[in-house]
Amino acid sequence: MKKIGILGGTFNPIHEGHLNIARCARDFLSLDEVWFLPAGTPPHKDVAEHVSAWHRKNMVNAAIASERAFLLCDIELEKKTPCYSWETLEELHAQYGQNADFYFIIGEDSFAMFDQWVHPERICAVCKIVVAKRPLDKAAIKKAHPMAFNERIETYRQKFSTEFIEMPVEVMDISSSYIRKCLQAGEMETNLSMLPDAVLSYIAEHQLYQADYPLSLIDTLQKKVKRELKPERFEHTLGVMYTAGNLASVHGYPQIKAMVAGLLHDCAKCLSDEKRLDICHKQKITVTDIENRHPHLLHGKVGAYLAKKKYDITDPQVLHAIAVHTTGCPDMNLLDKIIYIADYIEPHRDKAPHLEEIRRKSFADIDAGLFMILEDSVQYLSQSPSDMDPMTLETYEYYKNLQK
Ligand SMILES: [Fe+2]
Ligand SMILES: [Fe+2]
Repeated sequence: MKKIGILGGTFNPIHEGHLNIARCARDFLSLDEVWFLPAGTPPHKDVAEHVSAWHRKNMVNAAIASERAFLLCDIELEKKTPCYSWETLEELHAQYGQNADFYFIIGEDSFAMFDQWVHPERICAVCKIVVAKRPLDKAAIKKAHPMAFNERIETYRQKFSTEFIEMPVEVMDISSSYIRKCLQAGEMETNLSMLPDAVLSYIAEHQLYQADYPLSLIDTLQKKVKRELKPERFEHTLGVMYTAGNLASVHGYPQIKAMVAGLLHDCAKCLSDEKRLDICHKQKITVTDIENRHPHLLHGKVGAYLAKKKYDITDPQVLHAIAVHTTGCPDMNLLDKIIYIADYIEPHRDKAPHLEEIRRKSFADIDAGLFMILEDSVQYLSQSPSDMDPMTLETYEYYKNLQK
């Protein structure tokens, strides 16, 4: 029989405290596997900050990828309706119980209220209970249940027909809600030791736990931008905005934020070359040789400046995506890629080769779409090499190496 630990939770986000409990259980009980069971729609609590089940699942996968014997169990995530632990555990038992002994791992605070859970006796009929001693508010536990831990575990052992195993866990005073608060306050450093690197990167890439962009911002900015751009440029801008929004929703990036970047990406297109050079000079924005010879290439960098100065956008990711949209750059972040691609494939574009394939690819695999665009751009621009911005080539070389 396999010994399988089950650790449930919202995992919003999964953190080192969860991993620590799972590692302890694996080693303390010599478990063959530990299954992480993210809650779909938990009956007891709301999923905070609108972080979807998809992101929570991806974060769990990222966190456990390099851990021995840790696996994801997405049975609750796949369900459309809320479910209780007893339902899931009975289901797992029915499916795997012939070859597995299940150890349901719970914290000491949950344990204190275990007899108030829905159908604790049905949970106990299909698995053993492992109680991880966590840092906790002792007063709250006392209030919920007046019995001391030892007395309580004895009572439960008699009342429910299963083993209750006490598991000592080194105290890690971490909670997902505290981590969310830190992230919203922009204190990423506070989280460095609380989150696995892969989870921290995932959160940064997908901009999770950030303040929301209101939909009304699109309306306000659109009116301003329309006044500044020529009609054809404004039409193109709308195309980029909608395409960026769609790419964002497919690739798990905040949609409105991507639309704002799309809406402003060409906001410096309306300026003359002299004006663009003048702004760069006054704002001490670096101008390369090729940009000096072809100042229209500066509309990205100057656009980022205008987005901040004139449209009050201070978000560094939005400004960066606008700044690099003409050439791309090595190691682009997700929003950089979204804007770069949206600019190339928006519905008014019809001249570039392979457009249909690039459109399809960009939604299915953003890096594959990006690379096709870079390849075609370099090929097109190499017809007159002196006009090619070296950054375009550098970006292409960077992603070519990644492909290898
Ligand atoms: Fe542009
Ligand atoms: Fe554009």
